[in-house]
Amino acid sequence: MFITFEGIEGSGKSTQAKLLKEFLELKGQTVTLTREPGWGAMGKLIRRMLLEERIMELDPMAELCLFCADRAQHVKDFILPKLKQGEIVICDRFYDSTIVYQGYARRLDLSLVKKLAKASALDVDPGLTFLLNIPVRKGLSRLQQRDEKTKLDEEPIDFHERVRQGYMLIAKNDPTRVKILNAAKDISVLQDEIRSMVLGALNVA
Ligand SMILES: Nc1ncnc2c1ncn2[C@@H]1O[C@H](COP(=O)(O)OP(=O)(O)O)[C@@H](O)[C@H]1O
Ligand SMILES: [Mg+2]
Repeated sequence: MFITFEGIEGSGKSTQAKLLKEFLELKGQTVTLTREPGWGAMGKLIRRMLLEERIMELDPMAELCLFCADRAQHVKDFILPKLKQGEIVICDRFYDSTIVYQGYARRLDLSLVKKLAKASALDVDPGLTFLLNIPVRKGLSRLQQRDEKTKLDEEPIDFHERVRQGYMLIAKNDPTRVKILNAAKDISVLQDEIRSMVLGALNVA
């Protein structure tokens, strides 16, 4: 089963993904936790270009292509083989991030972005996606306690607002896959909600 976490920076994706992995392992499942962008040798280079190198002013189309290149390699070499072995793969950000950041927030042609984002996943779709929804200022204020800052954190508030609204549209159009969670709740309350949905989907207690 393939599970993804989405939401703006500071919404709690990494926190919840890690807790879910630990829980599922206690249940006897084999679980891999991964994230985008940045898997593997190529991904590490791409991540640096996308998120770290402040001297690089990437054109939005270049940015889109880099995210998609990263995903295709990640899926082919890492995610797909694990799914084929029946493992659970949890990914911190996946193609919905490309659709909202490059499509809704950077305002590239939305139908092109959707096509590329999905094509780069090589026909692998998440069975469940948790969307951690939180007011932008609240999410961003949480980042002040975090060491790892990226270029994205420096985008203006309205950029993150477009991201958040884009996510809500995706969830509205695909409610079976995308579950909206109120990310302002306590970490443990959210984790309980996530666990029960995952167990329901896995059909185990
Ligand atoms: N539900 C929550 N309530 C309060 N603080 C939270 C919650 N979830 C996460 N945090 C804290 O907010 C910060 C950002 O969380 P993180 O999981 O790194 O977010 P993301 O991966 O979505 O950017 C961390 O310091 C984390 O401990
Ligand atoms: Mg994170």
